Amino acid sequence: MLSGKKILVGVTGSIAAYKTILLVRLLIKAGAEVKVIMTPSAKDFVSQLTFSTLSKNEVLVDLFNENSWANHVNLGRWADVMVIAPLSCNTLAKMANGLCDNLLLAVYLSATCPVIVAPAMDEDMWHHPSTQSNINKIQSFGNNIMPVENGELASGLYGDGRMAEPEQILQYVRDFFFSTKELAGKIILVTAGPTHEAIDPVRFISNHSSGKMGVAIAEEFARRGAAVTLILGPSNINVSKGIHTLKVTSAREMYDACMNNFAKADITVMAAAVADYMPQNFSSRKIKKTEDVFTLGLKRTNDILKELGEQKNQDQVIVGFALETNNEKENALCKLEKKNIDLIVLNSLNDEGAGFGTDTNKIAIFDKHGNEFHFEKKSKNLVAKDIVNTIIQYKNA
Ligand code: CTP
Repeated sequence: MLSGKKILVGVTGSIAAYKTILLVRLLIKAGAEVKVIMTPSAKDFVSQLTFSTLSKNEVLVDLFNENSWANHVNLGRWADVMVIAPLSCNTLAKMANGLCDNLLLAVYLSATCPVIVAPAMDEDMWHHPSTQSNINKIQSFGNNIMPVENGELASGLYGDGRMAEPEQILQYVRDFFFSTKELAGKIILVTAGPTHEAIDPVRFISNHSSGKMGVAIAEEFARRGAAVTLILGPSNINVSKGIHTLKVTSAREMYDACMNNFAKADITVMAAAVADYMPQNFSSRKIKKTEDVFTLGLKRTNDILKELGEQKNQDQVIVGFALETNNEKENALCKLEKKNIDLIVLNSLNDEGAGFGTDTNKIAIFDKHGNEFHFEKKSKNLVAKDIVNTIIQYKNA
């Protein structure tokens, strides 16, 4: 499946380097020719011998070896793609600033092939403004950034910063070579994330949505060649530069952005967890505590999906989401009909690893012709593929 492809794997100093051993194995099993280069500190985590045995190629670490010089220009030109996994915070900062103090960086700077990176670091390092600015910078240079995962970290803490799993990196590499651009010319509108409904200047009502599922769907559509507009509620998820992203805060702003962009969209996916209610009155001053019991009046927000369902023409496809805790299928089908949409993606909060904040999801999709599709629990990136495949299948039927 990757036979004939030349893949250069760069390994940097991070505990996640142990996963790269499996990645190299998977790439070789898929038929690729693999060469590995390591930074000097990567050797503290995994051995050169492991990688040279697996890849059946010499593993280079240094720019100079006694009297010989490692030809970094040739290595960068040999590869069809360079995959840096794990990408440490340190190497990321050097890549963002053009530093060249080891072989891996020299190869990266002289590589003519596309570069994919899979960052790995502790949560606080990942969220540090300098790291985020470096990620944006290397993305603007044209590098492909794999999203980090949320989970247990080397520090023992839980959070964002885990390197993507080897299977996911393999899938990303495969897509990279074989994605079909089947949606070239199509216009897609996706919403993602929560909304914030302000109570006063310092408080708001919201929910636990992270925006991961919607962003993964937007990314998947873009990979297949579509022109994607993403309307994103408050979320700190990185979005690829190629996606036209409109940041909004409230349900009202999301409504306006949807209304402005819906008419030209071939497919609209409402993955956002839009607040159903907003405070009846916004207090321009911070509300002070007085009584023991405080009653907050709420009023309905616009049901964006329902309004889009009323406006849609017969060529447009609309997909909604339903997050349910009980009578899941019945509730999802009721929303499908009431909102006049084509497909509804159901996730049940009763399924472990599904719903808000997690990196995985377990979904079922129902269409308006009575078809239903059930899927296993998988990473949100792979769930996004299932959703996009099902939408395309529906549209082509
Ligand atoms: N949605 C919307 N506008 C809103 C609320 C939700 O467009 N104001 C969309 C969501 O993006 C999602 C779908 O509607 O695609 C969810 O349907 P909804 O009926 O709002 O679900 P719940 O909010 O869970 O409704 P209920 O509380 O009745 O279950």
